[in-house]
Amino acid sequence: MLDELTDMVKPGITTAYLDEQAEKLIEKLGGKPNFKNYEGYPACICASVNDEIVHGIPSGKRVLREGDIISIDTGMVIEGYHSDAARTVGVGDISPECSLLIRNTRSSFFAAMKAATAGNRLYDISGAVASYIEGTGMGYGIVRELTGHGIGTDMHEKPMIPNYRKRFRGPRLRAGNTLAIEPMISMGRPEIEMLDDDWTIVTGDGSWAAHYENTILITDGYPEILSLGDKEKEMGCE
Ligand code: MF3
Ligand code: CO
Repeated sequence: MLDELTDMVKPGITTAYLDEQAEKLIEKLGGKPNFKNYEGYPACICASVNDEIVHGIPSGKRVLREGDIISIDTGMVIEGYHSDAARTVGVGDISPECSLLIRNTRSSFFAAMKAATAGNRLYDISGAVASYIEGTGMGYGIVRELTGHGIGTDMHEKPMIPNYRKRFRGPRLRAGNTLAIEPMISMGRPEIEMLDDDWTIVTGDGSWAAHYENTILITDGYPEILSLGDKEKEMGCE
């Protein structure tokens, strides 16, 4: 679904258009939207553009322009189980700085997967995201006030999974745990603000941000990444 939605991103379309297409895709795939009506949320996707980090509400007035970056975050429920995943992509040609931000945010997720093994501990995942991002030397902001989460028969389950290092390693990971891991990274400061729509989260300093998320299953080895389409697999997951 995200492969198809990200292919539709081009200058001139609106974020409401992407949401309409998402709704059709969810139905075609035999799922039910899990974002729609979640605590009153009005759409099937979150479409967060440029300095919007997450939870941007799709709108017919939000026309994508060349050079923008957009995070599409969506999920569905099938046979009682929830998915939650997000990709950030460029609209037409984007700046090298934006491409790098998107690539580094995605890579921080896969770096963290190496730590996401039964027997390791929850905040090893958090620390691995932070180490990767800090290791880029780009001075990025790691959003602290929003986290990944457990996922299963509810979209948001315990525990919260921060993207920064904690002073202890946290609970042990067990095969069969299902988690949504979602680094949110800005080009500037990590602080966030909420817009007056009470949903859209933006960076406090106006810097642009990227978001990447998958639903994963902890195993005794490398985790199973449950929300990876062909496009992601072709891009490589190292
Ligand atoms: N993927 C989002 C998150 O984990 C879920 C958004 S719920 C919605 O925060 F209601 F905002 F859509
Ligand atoms: Co999530």
